[in-house]
Order: sequence, then C-alpha cells, then structure tokens
Amino acid sequence: MKEKILEAFEGTRKAGSIASAALDEVAKIVKPGIKTEEIDKLCFEFINDNGAYSAPLYYRGFPKSCCTSTNHIVCHGIPKYKVLKEGDIVNVDVTALKNGWHGDTSRMYYVGDVSTKAKKLVEVTYEAMSKSIKILKNGIKVGDIGYVIETYVKSNGFSVVRDFCGHGTGKNFHEPPNILHFGERNTGEELKTGMIFTIEPMINEGEYQTKLLQDGWTAVTKDKKLSAQFEHTVGITDKGYEIFTASKKGYDFPPYIK
Ligand code: MF3
Ligand code: CO
Ligand code: CO
Repeated sequence: MKEKILEAFEGTRKAGSIASAALDEVAKIVKPGIKTEEIDKLCFEFINDNGAYSAPLYYRGFPKSCCTSTNHIVCHGIPKYKVLKEGDIVNVDVTALKNGWHGDTSRMYYVGDVSTKAKKLVEVTYEAMSKSIKILKNGIKVGDIGYVIETYVKSNGFSVVRDFCGHGTGKNFHEPPNILHFGERNTGEELKTGMIFTIEPMINEGEYQTKLLQDGWTAVTKDKKLSAQFEHTVGITDKGYEIFTASKKGYDFPPYIK
C-alpha cells in the first residue's frame, strides 16, 4: 500500500487500540448500582492517560467523553447520574483522537443478569456487524455491507435503524462515505484499498423508527423497545481488511468477565 495509506493505517491502529482498551476497562466496572457518569469518568481518564483526547467531548456541543445508551436508547445517550440496574443493557461508545487520528468503537454490556430476549438482540447485532466485516475487500460496494446486515437482522425478526449510519474516519471524526446498514447488493459507492470507516449497526427489537429527545442528542426507539449496537473502525487492505478496534483481551462480546 502507498505511504500515505500506511501512515493513516498506523495512526488509526494506535487510536483504535486506545479506544478498544478503554472499552476493556469499562467491562471491569459495569454492574448494577453504578452511574453512567462513572463510565464517562473512566473513559475520559483512561484515554487521557494514554496521551489521547476523547473526540466526543465538545464535539458539536456534546457534553461528555463517551456515549452511554441504555435499553431503548438507540445512540448518543449522555452519561449522567442515572444508575444502572440489574437487567439493563448498555452500549458504551468511545472515540480516541491520537496524533491526529481517530479510533471509534462501541460495545454492548450486560448489567448483571439480562433477559434471554435482550441477549438475543445483542447477539444478532454483534453477528450482523461481524458478518459484514468478513466480506470487506477492495471493490465491494457500500450496499453490499448494508445487504448483509439487513438480511441477517430481518431473518431474526429485528429491524435496522435507518436514521444513523457508519462513516469514514481519519483526521476528521466523521468523513465520507456514509456506511448505511441496510441496502441492496452491488449498489452505492465502491470501497477501495486504503479506505478507513466504521461499521456500527443499531438494531431494534421492534420497529426501526427513532425519536430524538429534548436534549438534542439522545435518540430512542419510537416504540420504546430495546435497541443494541456494536461498532468497529475498519480499513480495506490489499488482502481484505483490518479491524483497528478489536479487543486485545478478547472482550469483543459480552459477558466479558465471567
Ligand atoms: N461515536 C459516535 C459515532 O459512532 C459519535 C458520537 S458523536 C457525539 O459516530 F457527539 F455524540 F459524541
Ligand atoms: Co462512529
Ligand atoms: Co462511535
């Protein structure tokens, strides 16, 4: 690969590994009784201690260092005094900015014991993301990613959120192209070696529609049913793909600490 691409890959690899390690740390503290603010504090400090900046903080006025999206929150939940309770599911989304490069990733966490139905949603969401990553190679199209995700999700009786998408990432937090999590095969922009972007499907237990709360950030399911999300930052290589935000501890899928 060309030198410019290698530089972007190396930068994103470093940022991605800090973001991913932050989520490994989160796994140690998520339990009934903690406040989502405590997750934010841990992410802020861990990312700082690793010589990076939390890209969400003050991004377009976002007030915190990470997003914490519980239960029916689809994405962009704001960490607060809210206490997590047994049975909740929560997505934590972090982005580290290191030496000018971004690494953006999120995982679901189980708070104590969770219902079989919640686990199924989380499993299908993770599988949908994983299956779409496995097809990545030079020359595929954005629609191919969406097709894999949508087909798998629908076959499991869940729905794909349409109001938010994955995105290119690099020196900017969010760049073109938009990566839609639904679509038709062989449609949309062609993905080329060297491109770096996120895949971050939000999957709903019920209908796909979302609603934005008064705070201007928190997106929730319209029918108040559960929503789940996982996110990796990935790059297209000569050989296929690289995942920049995989857990070095094997904490990619819950329960992380048994
Ligand atoms: N990390 C989110 C994403 O996956 C974006 C969060 S923007 C924020 O793209 F401002 F809400 F933090
Ligand atoms: Co993202
Ligand atoms: Co993110």
